[in-house]
Amino acid sequence: MNTRPDTLTTDDRPSQGLTRRGLLGAAGLGLASGGYALGAAAGQADPTQEPEAVPFYGRHQSGIATAPPEHVTFATFDLDTVDADALRSLLQEWTATAARLTGGKGATASQLDGTADPGEARGLPAARLTLTVGLGASIFDQDGEDRMGLAALRPSALDPLPYFRGDSLDPARSDGDLCVQACADNAQVVFHAVHALVLSARGVASLRWTQSGFRGAKTSGERDPRNLMGFKDGTANVDPTDDDAMRRSVWVSGREEPSWMTNGSYLVARRIRILLDSWDALSLDGQERAVGRRKGTGAPLAQLVNGRPDLKAAVENQAVIPSDAHIRLAAPDQGDGPPLLRRSYSFSDGASGDGRLDAGLLFLAYQRDPQRQFVPVQQRLASQDALGSHLQHTASGLFACPPGVRPGGYLAQALFERL
Ligand code: HEM
Repeated sequence: MNTRPDTLTTDDRPSQGLTRRGLLGAAGLGLASGGYALGAAAGQADPTQEPEAVPFYGRHQSGIATAPPEHVTFATFDLDTVDADALRSLLQEWTATAARLTGGKGATASQLDGTADPGEARGLPAARLTLTVGLGASIFDQDGEDRMGLAALRPSALDPLPYFRGDSLDPARSDGDLCVQACADNAQVVFHAVHALVLSARGVASLRWTQSGFRGAKTSGERDPRNLMGFKDGTANVDPTDDDAMRRSVWVSGREEPSWMTNGSYLVARRIRILLDSWDALSLDGQERAVGRRKGTGAPLAQLVNGRPDLKAAVENQAVIPSDAHIRLAAPDQGDGPPLLRRSYSFSDGASGDGRLDAGLLFLAYQRDPQRQFVPVQQRLASQDALGSHLQHTASGLFACPPGVRPGGYLAQALFERL
């Protein structure tokens, strides 16, 4: 594994607390005005405090309950080793790197040294960067083999997702031994973070696939951004500020096996292309009936009863929310496990080669048990959803995101302590 030595002399070494912007000032590279370095010099700001930083340490990994920033890159990696100690060292290094980057600092103690940090985030703020790491089933066993002595610790929640009707998955862009969800309000901060993790993984793990995405900026007064079908997305979702709801739906409890996943969560990632040609050809009424909500306001087609769209509402024996409407089929009222926490981003990958846009939704959903939560919902959607004929699932992944890290600890520590 690449454990790049810190080549700085003590004199060169910036204080551990300096932020990326602080470093810029410290290096004398110039900062117009109002930057942390100048503010600090004038005694107006504490250069060790990055106001746009999301705390890295905690009971749960950040990037799950955190309000989604504007940009994401979802990246998966394959291990180039079957040595569990090398994987542990990588997770230790990623922990240290993630703690620094999310705090608005360089990837290592110095970014003035060109070899220590790729450098493209110099002068940029933390921008609410979060880095959320997950482990794929292939770490535990592959083709029935105990790949690196971890098979006994594999969560059954990582059982492979079944084939869903209409799936058109590209194996090269699916799965992976490790995943990283990097989110921030600045696309270059996101890129830099992934770049730094790719660099620090050299020799141990290689990038497998990535998907970047964005959230539509909210217009004033609107809580939810619009997806590329033009509808508000995320209206009926688990409220990440509601601890009880998060415990019911998202966080693995101490009663579930394996215990190393307590306070962690499972992530389902799907790259879903939206066939915009056929979608755009629908009338407004057709689009609203397919979703079950109004395009303009996001209100359900039927009235709310106890805060939920009334799925029983009918006019002249016709269901107001059609039987194949997306929100009816996806609704938790259908008797599945608790609802999913959806944290999706739109993507636009240019032209598809046939004169069409290659764009859609990077569906990211966190949950306690994908077999009870994602699978039954997606089975229903795949066979009946009116949106389905306008969608194509092209990539898929399922990952176990271990609990958060306490200072001095590292990602998935409890897994390795059970070895
Ligand atoms: C490109 C694909 C998709 C699009 C464009 C889409 C769009 C939407 C929209 C516009 C809504 C209504 C607003 C809201 O409550 O958020 C919604 C709701 C929902 N979607 Fe999707 N969705 C997609 C894929 C999926 C998938 C794959 C799942 C899960 C397997 C899913 C699960 C849900 C759930 C659980 C709701 C809330 C239903 C409720 O409780 O009312 N969606 N989606």
